[in-house]
Amino acid sequence: MNSNRLVIAIDGPAGAGKSTIAKKIADILDIEYIDTGAMYRAFTLKVLNSNIDINNLDEILKLLDTTTIEFKNRHIYLDGTRVDEEIRNNIISNNVSQIAKIKEVREKMVELQQKLAISNNVIMDGRDIGTVVLPNANYKFFLTASVEERAKRRYKELIQKGISNITYEQILEEIKKRDEIDSNREVSPLRKSQDAYVIDTTNKTIDETVQEIISIIEGR
Ligand code: CDP
Repeated sequence: MNSNRLVIAIDGPAGAGKSTIAKKIADILDIEYIDTGAMYRAFTLKVLNSNIDINNLDEILKLLDTTTIEFKNRHIYLDGTRVDEEIRNNIISNNVSQIAKIKEVREKMVELQQKLAISNNVIMDGRDIGTVVLPNANYKFFLTASVEERAKRRYKELIQKGISNITYEQILEEIKKRDEIDSNREVSPLRKSQDAYVIDTTNKTIDETVQEIISIIEGR
């Protein structure tokens, strides 16, 4: 346990509400928020922009060696350029799991994530935070929701962003495929840590979930 610091891990599948909830908790508790999915997304952006075949492991690893990923004030920088918006494109969502299952990619990201958590009070969200990245976190949460509800949320987000050339059914299929790859990969698959609190957010508002987590942390 990190006795003198507050370290919170949040894991779960796409669309369970992790990042929205983690940001709110970070604000309430005045601690750092680290979005580890953004890091895998940023590297995926680099791979797609460099026109190399997504199955060409040698080329991907070469690219990894010359990649820097940083967070500054909750913004993500890829090789010095801020990429918050580009990494949310659907083309990234549809390719990221393919990149995130590569062992060397995970090793580099996990090392970076652990460094970011070394001296700060943090809340970190992802797929393997409670199991691999921060196994000694003081609090671990596993957020879930039905796949239909998660697809509905993602669809709504895209519509709000003005993206209309995609259907709910497509999103549902994409999320199912991503869940499949993330849960079945060899290196640190999406798993609930044994000691995590499970929260099903299907019928809960964001604020209800935030309150539930805060109550647990404050021991109420
Ligand atoms: O926001 P959303 O739930 O769509 O996904 P994300 O948290 O941005 O993560 C994007 C992808 O990165 C996931 O589907 C995983 O393939 C990968 N990821 C991972 O493998 N390990 C993490 N700790 C975080 C994300």
